[in-house]
Amino acid sequence: MTETGATLPLFNAYPGLREAIAWVSIGEWPTPVQHARNFGRRVGLPNIYVKREDMSHPECGGNKTRGLEFLLAEAQRRGTRTIVTFSSVGSHHICRTAWHAARLDIRTVAIVMNQPNAQYVRSHLLWGLRAGARYIPANFATVLPKGLYELLRLRNREGGHMPLLIPPGGTSPMACLGHVNAAFELAQQVRSGQLPEPDFLYVPLGSLGTAAGLALGCKLAGLRTRVIGVVVSYRWYCTAGRVARLARRTRDFMWRADHRVPDVQVRASDLSVVSTALGSGYAWFTREAAEWSCIFRDEEGLCIDGTYGGKALDGALRFIRQLQVSDHVHLFWHTYHPLPYDDCPASLLSTLDRRLRRYFEDPVQPLDDQFRERTVPS
Ligand SMILES: Cc1ncc(COP(=O)(O)O)c(C=O)c1O
Repeated sequence: MTETGATLPLFNAYPGLREAIAWVSIGEWPTPVQHARNFGRRVGLPNIYVKREDMSHPECGGNKTRGLEFLLAEAQRRGTRTIVTFSSVGSHHICRTAWHAARLDIRTVAIVMNQPNAQYVRSHLLWGLRAGARYIPANFATVLPKGLYELLRLRNREGGHMPLLIPPGGTSPMACLGHVNAAFELAQQVRSGQLPEPDFLYVPLGSLGTAAGLALGCKLAGLRTRVIGVVVSYRWYCTAGRVARLARRTRDFMWRADHRVPDVQVRASDLSVVSTALGSGYAWFTREAAEWSCIFRDEEGLCIDGTYGGKALDGALRFIRQLQVSDHVHLFWHTYHPLPYDDCPASLLSTLDRRLRRYFEDPVQPLDDQFRERTVPS
């Protein structure tokens, strides 16, 4: 964690935000941009670039770091010692939140739903547990009552001090500011000649925060880049209308803090959504994503996951093929930072609820090995 003196291009553009909104420096910015020449040659895309969001933190990176800089600062501002949040068992959001929050002496309570098993689910669960997070298994019917119960229980325990409630995926207008800032960062990288202005920017649509922040940020930063969201969670949820609404709520949140933020409108028609790469559903791996991920890893040495990045890459290539825009400038938002995996020690395993223990005992889903990190021959 770097401290004091660090700032963001977003704050340079709208200094009122820095004064009104809490922010703590956690990540390493700017994340680099890489010209994916080898992969591009292989798939006939001479101008494909990668934004290395995986490098947002050397130990625990990925796309969630940007939002956490605002969410954890808000927890600190309120003097909250506990966060309550929701997601699936192997969620990146929970694992990253727990890990970074623990470094600020804030504890995470996570209400979690089942998901298909995978090696990354084990890594994330293990990292979250080691960071001191408390995982409470739930299902669609119990997730909200359990969350409410925990909030009230913790409020009583902490002398009336309410824990900070973070929505699923860590997505809220406040967290979206991190991704708005990412677009300002990208605009600087374009201006300094690190890449041409992208025509299309591809991002997975999970809880929508990354896409919404980027769509708003591109408009504010004067980029013509069109955001293409690839559905990786639920088709009914991941619509252009919802992303646009979240972008507008984020704009309003910014405007309340600094009236210099202009009245730009993100409309559903400003975005495209690709829903054909999802396969059987959230966190179920697909053969196409596995194949593209292997090619990407072989050509660029970058590890992509099967839940988000693999499907986003598959969706991007489908979009490019369908629109016949292979000569345009494409930017792939690389959101996944793989964490090293250790076996869960027996002493920890024996303390776990059986609904969590089973992720370490049950087999992983087919294709899992296709998404593992490997040493790439030089
Ligand atoms: C690795 C990774 N990529 C992409 C996403 C999707 O981002 P968002 O939830 O902001 O739509 C997530 C969300 O959990 C993620 O963990």
